[in-house]
Order: sequence, then C-alpha cells, then structure tokens
Amino acid sequence: MQQKLLNRRYGISGLLGTGGMAKVYLAHDDVLGRDVALKVLREQYAENEEFVERFRREAQAAARLSHPNIVATYDRGRSEDGSYYIVMEYVSGGTLKDRIVRGGPLDPDRAAELAAQIAGALGAAHDRGVIHRDVKPQNVLLTHSGDAKVTDFGIARAASEASLSGTSVILGTVSYMSPEQAMGRTVGRRAICTPSAWCSTRCSPAGCPSRPRRRWPSR
Ligand SMILES: Nc1ncnc2c1ncn2[C@@H]1O[C@H](COP(=O)(O)OP(=O)(O)O)[C@@H](O)[C@H]1O
Ligand SMILES: [Mg+2]
Repeated sequence: MQQKLLNRRYGISGLLGTGGMAKVYLAHDDVLGRDVALKVLREQYAENEEFVERFRREAQAAARLSHPNIVATYDRGRSEDGSYYIVMEYVSGGTLKDRIVRGGPLDPDRAAELAAQIAGALGAAHDRGVIHRDVKPQNVLLTHSGDAKVTDFGIARAASEASLSGTSVILGTVSYMSPEQAMGRTVGRRAICTPSAWCSTRCSPAGCPSRPRRRWPSR
C-alpha cells in the first residue's frame, strides 16, 4: 500500500484512534526520523472557523506544557489538501479506557499510581495557566512502560481566557466533569481532584460509587 506523505514530511501509516473532533494517525517524520502521532481535524470542520480556531488553540495550549505525563506537541500546520493537523509524541500503549475494557479494573495501587500521575500533569498545566476540562480515560494514554500521558487539550482554556464562542455552552464529558465545570462556573485548581477521584473509583475493582450498575465490560 502506498503511504500518504503529508507536506512532504509525514508518512501516514495507520489510524490510531478517533475522537469527536479529529482522527489520529501513526506517522513517520521523515525529517527527524521518528514516529509521531498526527492529529487531523475532521474534514467537515475544516471550513468552520470556530473549530479551526479551537484546533489552533489546542496546539498552542499543549505546546506550552512540558511534563513527563503530558503528551508532547511538536508542530502544527495545514497540508496541501487543506487539512489542519497537529504533530505529537506517539504513545504506543493505547488509552486507559482501552486498557480497562480489555483487562478489567486496575488493582488499587496501580489506580492510585495513575491518579497521581494524572493529577501531577493537571497540576503542571494549571501552573502554566492551562485548564484541560476534558480529562477522561479516553484522553489518557499509556506508555509502553505503563505510565500515563494526558492528551487532547481540545477544549482546554487558559485560566484568564473567555469562552471561544462567547456563549454559555458547557463543553466536556458529563460523567467526568468537576461539579464547577458542569455548573458553568470557573474551573480552578480544585478540579484536579475530580479526575483523580474517577481514576481511583472507575478504574479500581470497587467501580464507581455514583453509578454502581454501569461498568465497562471486562473484555
Ligand atoms: N499521541 C498519541 N499517541 C497515540 N494515540 C493517540 C495519540 N493521541 C490520540 N491518540 C488516539 O486517538 C484518539 C483520539 O484523540 P483525541 O486527541 O482525544 O481526539 P479528539 O479531540 O477528537 O477527542 C485517542 O483516544 C487515542 O486513541
Ligand atoms: Mg479525545
């Protein structure tokens, strides 16, 4: 099969995952000679100024952060065919959600270890004035050695910044939101506790106390 070469630099080899806003491909950076993850804004949003602006902000927010538990951002751009893309560090171990769906709940020590890593990442982001606002198992990647890396700063917001649309629309994923985000209030440093709490409940054998009947299947 012929590889698609983006901007004469990134050779795309396969799909890694999809989200609401983008598709993410495994690619090879021919200039620096390394594998990368290439996040491409879905075609239907390429003509939508708000989505393009959100995508630009995502790259900028993520690029401000340098932390062992945050996926590194390398580049962003637009291809010859008009697609917007972000180039990131490739994380090979899949998402935390995939891990739990495949292997069942984590043991408590492991869940606590991941919760601490995620909280460390969010704390570092807050220190740089970036609030993630969509931390969930689909947006936590695992490295080959099992460490967590937070990704998808798609709806992240600078602490000082107003909402992009200027409306009161609440973006994020309800099951994992901090109460203040769900209520449309300012999301501050305390929101770090929410993903730590879901990690230590939803990912551990006890399940989630607030929704005891809904668990991910064990395979
Ligand atoms: N750096 C990466 N390395 C490996 N896989 C990734 C990477 N970034 C994203 N993915 C995969 O792509 C999926 C969607 O990426 P994400 O950034 O969350 O997109 P969206 O903003 O559309 O939700 C993730 O859930 C994951 O499976
Ligand atoms: Mg996502």
